Amino acid sequence: MAKINLKLLKKEAQKEIKKTRDLKGLNEVFNKYLGKKGELSLILRSLKKLPKLRRAKIGSEVNELKDFLKIKFEQKAEEIKEKIKQKIEEKEWIDITAPGRKPALGHLHPLTLVKRKVEEIFQSMGFTVIEGPEIETEWYNFDALNIPKDHPARDILSLGKTLYLKAGGLMRSHTSSVQIRYMEKNNPPFRIVVPGRIFRQESTDSSHEINFYQLEGLMVDKNISVANFKAIIEEFFRRFFGKDTKIRLRPSYFPFVEPGLEVDLICLSCQGKGCSVCSQTGWLEMLGAGMVHPNVFKSAGYNPKFWQGFAFGMGLDRLTMMKYKINDIRLFYSGDLRFLNQF
Ligand code: DAH
Repeated sequence: MAKINLKLLKKEAQKEIKKTRDLKGLNEVFNKYLGKKGELSLILRSLKKLPKLRRAKIGSEVNELKDFLKIKFEQKAEEIKEKIKQKIEEKEWIDITAPGRKPALGHLHPLTLVKRKVEEIFQSMGFTVIEGPEIETEWYNFDALNIPKDHPARDILSLGKTLYLKAGGLMRSHTSSVQIRYMEKNNPPFRIVVPGRIFRQESTDSSHEINFYQLEGLMVDKNISVANFKAIIEEFFRRFFGKDTKIRLRPSYFPFVEPGLEVDLICLSCQGKGCSVCSQTGWLEMLGAGMVHPNVFKSAGYNPKFWQGFAFGMGLDRLTMMKYKINDIRLFYSGDLRFLNQF
């Protein structure tokens, strides 16, 4: 009888140990079988009534079962502890092989990229990069540049494009003003380029903005001619757009140069054959230039009998639009990431 009971007890105890999920539950099962009032203790106590021989036999069997179950309890307890540990580790687990979160890095604006490239090319030809103020006086923006008082650009009313300030002065309408500022403080010979933002009252469209960027150039020495200008500007376009680039010079008029020139670049889309980009002319107007007017030298305190020089001014926005085939100048100032992220 007792033997069968032990077998059954062993089976049931093992089953219950297996089922437990936590240490508390395991403890309850332990008490049920091995505790002071547990089933095995009760059996041992009840052995007193049995005859000696039988008592010894069953007693040793019960003790064997006790030892057996103790080991099972210990194993289960280890198992549960291990699982708890794993759970904690899982929560705090760091996958050191996972790729890091990429910081959102910004990048340079296309106008800045082009400005830097242009500066680099001119610097390699001996030009120094100079800057000047965006708020100007009429003297630096107009008078000193030989622009007469009645020039339409100076019109304060609707005709003019200059933005005058209530407090006096104006937003510079071109970078040519820096020519005078530089010459006042420096003696020839020199070569400078002046990149900078300029401001105009415009009705905006795909090729007009109320502000944009120019690059002014000025080279002054004893024997400077249009030939020097042509060599420099041709070299610039070759390095900027590629070896095959061709330019042509055409007479033009600006009050601060004499003679005045306009520089055309062979159309990059049709190589001069004529297409919609160049209005069938084969050429694209790129910049104004000329030999510095004697009156400009006089304004800056130079003797025009000793010095000669060329000056030029080009639009950096236009250059950028041509380089990257951008069809609307307003995109530069829109802050639209769909546009900006392409650079
Ligand atoms: N300042 C002129 C403009 O804004 C561009 C220009 C033309 C600059 C001829 C020059 C020059 O230095 O010589 O349209």
